[in-house]
Amino acid sequence: MADRKVETVKIISQECLAEGIYSMWIETEAAGMAKPGQFLSIYTNDAGKLLPRPISICEIDKVSRRLRVVYRVTGENTGTEQFSRMKEGESLKILGPLGNGFPLERAKGKRVFLMGGGIGVPPILELAKQMDCIEKQLIIGYRDHHTFLKEEFEKNGRLFISTEDGSVGTKGNVMDAIRENALRADVIFACGPTPMLRAIKEFAAEKSIECYISLEERMACGIGACLGCVCQSKERDAHSNVKNKRICKDGPVFLAAEVEI
Ligand SMILES: Cc1cc2nc3c(=O)[nH]c(=O)nc-3n(C[C@H](O)[C@H](O)[C@H](O)COP(=O)(O)OP(=O)(O)OC[C@H]3O[C@@H](n4cnc5c(N)ncnc54)[C@H](O)[C@@H]3O)c2cc1C
Ligand code: FES
Repeated sequence: MADRKVETVKIISQECLAEGIYSMWIETEAAGMAKPGQFLSIYTNDAGKLLPRPISICEIDKVSRRLRVVYRVTGENTGTEQFSRMKEGESLKILGPLGNGFPLERAKGKRVFLMGGGIGVPPILELAKQMDCIEKQLIIGYRDHHTFLKEEFEKNGRLFISTEDGSVGTKGNVMDAIRENALRADVIFACGPTPMLRAIKEFAAEKSIECYISLEERMACGIGACLGCVCQSKERDAHSNVKNKRICKDGPVFLAAEVEI
């Protein structure tokens, strides 16, 4: 990654998609370089919250130099709540795009699962839009009928939904949707909570499927300097000689077999 500078960007739109879920488009230089699976570090305007919040890129519009993020408000007086109160025309500070992104080239000529769960759903949208493969199967897990981004997913692949309460699609999780629909893939791309990624990693290992997962660890610096986000890797790192990977810099996307989760 070339050295990025903190940039002040303009909010183009802010919209509530579902209870506690917001979509924000910003105008930024970062759009020109952004890839699916990368993220932005977004700063709050609260002096008491020094650290930026990592939020995945949900959509990229290189022509208008705009990026979309979709985020969940985690609670009162949190950074994400502060983002949700900001309005069109206001400005924000961001750093990005950060991280490696998904290896899109691994999908060519293959049957693909694109899997998203919880707040790992948004980055799957731009991935689906850019993916060139022979069979694009989107398997998206929600808690309930608040199936945000559903219409956009439908336009970009064959969509299978799971909901924890069974209100839409398969009752259960994304693995239940795979079983219920007897789906098959040669390569998997996934983003979501750790238990979901663990189940996907196990499934991929059992079936010998190439699998890439995007980890959502808590972060501090976001640029590889503080080691606040390390995960255990199978191999020793060539620079540090330890079995660690920094999720913000070496990831957030990893070959599932390479990391312990
Ligand atoms: C690479 C990456 C991409 C992400 N992409 C998105 C995204 O597209 N949309 C989105 O809504 N969120 C995303 N997240 C999670 C998001 O960064 C956190 O929800 C956010 O930082 C919380 O900040 P806050 O100020 O609202 O909450 P805080 O005040 O920091 O914390 C509020 C609560 O949220 C919990 N929390 C904070 N960070 C995380 C985390 N990473 N995972 C689980 N729980 C957490 C805390 O433990 C606490 O209970 C991503 C995280 C990473 C690392
Ligand atoms: S958050 Fe500092 S090294 Fe990753």
